[in-house]
Amino acid sequence: MNHRAWMRSQGFTPEVFDGRPVIGIATTWSELAPCNVHLHRVAESVKKGVWQAGGFPLEFPAMALGETLLRPTAMLYRNLLAMEAEELIRANPLDGVVLLSGCDKTTPGLLMAASSVGLPAIMVTGGPMLNGKYQGTDVGSGTAVWRWEEDLLAGRMTEAECAFAEGCMARSNGHCMTMGTASTMASMAEALGMQLPYSATWPAVDARRYETAQRAGQRIVDMVENDLTPDKIMTRDAFENAIRVNAAIGGSTNAVIHLLAIAGRLGVDLALDDFDTLIRDVPTLLNLQPSGKYLMEDFCYAGGLPAVMRELGGLLHREALTVTGATVGENVKDAPTWNRDVIMPLDQPFQGAGTGTAVLRGNLAPNGAVIKQSAASPHLLKHRGRALVFDSPEAYHQVAADEDLDVDEDSVLIIRYCGPKGYPGMPETANVPLPAKLLKRGVKDIVRICDGRMSGTAYGTVVLHVAPEAAAGGPLALVKTGDWITLDVPARTLSLDVPDDELAARKAAWTPLPPPATRGWTWLYTEHVQQADTGCDLDFLTGKSGAQVGRDPH
Ligand code: FES
Repeated sequence: MNHRAWMRSQGFTPEVFDGRPVIGIATTWSELAPCNVHLHRVAESVKKGVWQAGGFPLEFPAMALGETLLRPTAMLYRNLLAMEAEELIRANPLDGVVLLSGCDKTTPGLLMAASSVGLPAIMVTGGPMLNGKYQGTDVGSGTAVWRWEEDLLAGRMTEAECAFAEGCMARSNGHCMTMGTASTMASMAEALGMQLPYSATWPAVDARRYETAQRAGQRIVDMVENDLTPDKIMTRDAFENAIRVNAAIGGSTNAVIHLLAIAGRLGVDLALDDFDTLIRDVPTLLNLQPSGKYLMEDFCYAGGLPAVMRELGGLLHREALTVTGATVGENVKDAPTWNRDVIMPLDQPFQGAGTGTAVLRGNLAPNGAVIKQSAASPHLLKHRGRALVFDSPEAYHQVAADEDLDVDEDSVLIIRYCGPKGYPGMPETANVPLPAKLLKRGVKDIVRICDGRMSGTAYGTVVLHVAPEAAAGGPLALVKTGDWITLDVPARTLSLDVPDDELAARKAAWTPLPPPATRGWTWLYTEHVQQADTGCDLDFLTGKSGAQVGRDPH
């Protein structure tokens, strides 16, 4: 009576909840997360579907993480969203859940939560913005910002032009419409089988996104009926599919961290090196920014993710199960491609096989580092240069415009103490703009190395996710300005050309930075966060606890 009476206080009559499966709709809507601000309308469409199929939908908020406003980085809070959503899904009397996400961290955070609970779950991402339009050309969110910032620094653009361009870039609801992290993770959710076909690509304002949301609402009721839980969908085969699809779409390096974290929740045996070995025979098929020319709206009209997955043919596990109740192969077998300049064929790809994310190792990154080859400059993939070291992005920014900075096109710029413990939260600071002195000389790229991350919309020859990070005492902390560093991407190596005994002496003299916080979430996070090579989850959150609260009294 207690439960029923308070549900009736919302105006529900007993007929709408008696005997019906209760479907939670976890929404990351917030005006502080502009990419997710339309999710309350998406939720209304989901509810229509749930009602149609005989379920009882109840919408509830989960922490919204907006890349553009949260400081020091939304990544500091991905695990907090995952923890909050996990407990909300478990503690409330739900039979299944629909996950509404959009901006970068909301998609992996909700998938991690659903994985640890294990109730039937289906995702509906919010979709990309319409293409940006500036001075008669298409402009991509994120990617254009990096270029315009460089143009402003180099004097090629005025502040007034930049202010006007802002409004041309982000002109509708939705997440970034380049193949940045949000588009990548939406595609990963679809490739994993956790959202309906075409969900990743319908623009946020397209009526078909709302139709898809309605179908997801119908579908979750069936999934509850059939006990179709995330562990039956997100198997090792599904992760292999996602990794290969990520290579084919030129997806973000952030997918490496998020997929490792989701797999860790499910107990799926996935390792950093899988991301290198699995992509060696996968070409990039998609001609999308930041690696290519087009944007998500073009990808949608060209056929969407099912067209890419169909094109990949035998490179995918076609028997992997999805939320449709059918396999990947059944879902995509008839998917047409309408524009071959956007989605290129497997035998004439946009970039050849093995140009995706490479995993590097060496004495500078004993536990690994990654580089997005398709966003790098080919002439820098084998490079030897002298280190120019900064202990924070801020320290670099203070001198980046200095004409006397001792830097040239062969320098290797190191930005460190940006890892999960260091900053904290592992911000997207790796792709710092080039020194103004080099930009003015027309230099477009130099090698950069960082224990932080890079925005999926960014480009450049940037080595990321160095593990262990400097703040954990990794060798990156021991580099001095002037040391020689050798990067050899074809050989998958990253080395610091300093003798071992000298490195041992530096290590003995090294002192860790004081912790960034002594209480609260940031303290908990830095005490328990794991390194990038295993997905940056908190050590006590890996694995799953199931859907029951507390101990079974029997
Ligand atoms: Fe939200 Fe790019 S800022 S997706």
